[in-house]
Amino acid sequence: MFDELSLNILDIGMNSIAAGATVVQVTIIEDKKADWLIIRIRDNGRGMDDKTLRRVLTKNFSTKVTRKKPIGLGLALLRQTSEMCGGTFHIRSRPGDGTSVTASMRFSHVDRPPLGDLNTTILALSSASSPVDIQLDYHSNDGAFQFSSQEGKRHEPRRTQKTQRESAATSRAA
Ligand SMILES: Nc1ncnc2c1ncn2[C@@H]1O[C@H](COP(=O)(O)OP(=O)(O)OP(=O)(O)O)[C@@H](O)[C@H]1O
Ligand SMILES: [Mg+2]
Repeated sequence: MFDELSLNILDIGMNSIAAGATVVQVTIIEDKKADWLIIRIRDNGRGMDDKTLRRVLTKNFSTKVTRKKPIGLGLALLRQTSEMCGGTFHIRSRPGDGTSVTASMRFSHVDRPPLGDLNTTILALSSASSPVDIQLDYHSNDGAFQFSSQEGKRHEPRRTQKTQRESAATSRAA
């Protein structure tokens, strides 16, 4: 298990880049009220056929050629963490049609690792693959924001909704 979920996200995002994706969408939903943390990483890379998908899900499996001995832990670790924290883990993939990995966990579960440094993860993915659009879509009970590494070259990350504190401050000021 990684100490921080952002390291799992980095690993799964690197899988997408290795699979030739041009767009990698990372969605994070921190819903404290409903007690869920949901992480989804979706790509438009080469995808996996059914046989590969079954192997990925049943045991540590890797097609990496960059290591002397591939370990194939990224998906297995995230699956273990979500199941240990009262959630579920799903992968959908089709050859030529990309891959979507969704992990949920109970927000308040005592073993749930912290999200960690998400900004550094997104920056690391963006700089690992400058032509690839790394997108972050973050939602919490307080608000939401989106980031795109391609748009981010021109704009700061934009908030789509005011946080409750911002809204309260605005109405107090009015
Ligand atoms: N998004 C993806 N698109 C296509 N194939 C994928 C994707 N994610 C994983 N795979 C396949 O599943 C295998 C296992 O992935 P996993 O992250 O578990 O291990 P790894 O990346 O091979 O090694 P590690 O993460 O331990 O460095 C990969 O080697 C690759 O063949
Ligand atoms: Mg991996």
